[in-house]
Amino acid sequence: GAPVELNISEIEPGSLVKVLWRGATYFVRRLTEEEVAAASSAPQENYRDYVPATDRIAGPAEGSAEWSIYSANCTHLGCIPSEVDGALEQWVCPCHGSKFDSTGRVTKGPAAINLPQPPFVFASDELLVIG
Ligand code: FES
Repeated sequence: GAPVELNISEIEPGSLVKVLWRGATYFVRRLTEEEVAAASSAPQENYRDYVPATDRIAGPAEGSAEWSIYSANCTHLGCIPSEVDGALEQWVCPCHGSKFDSTGRVTKGPAAINLPQPPFVFASDELLVIG
């Protein structure tokens, strides 16, 4: 499938946008400063498939890393997690209860791996290209 372009200039911190790419849904989260801080300082033992938060948060320019982009399909059996309010756990899968943080890293099983990130680039300060 062709790459998908998203104008990100009007997306506020704390927002979620759903993007369809190659027939699958991806979450594009613009994190708040608090969410970036919570994800960055969360202890490694909270996670089942630990990678640093910085691996999962990006931005168009140095010092503007506040975007996290990942698959909307649970890595257990593919259900779509629901958004919940929580500093760390922000997604709960309705099928078997897996939980994921604001960057899509799994904190509770049965899912064992993080929500995968699609290929993407920031073509400019205003344009995100997925695919
Ligand atoms: Fe998400 Fe099973 S499909 S926990």
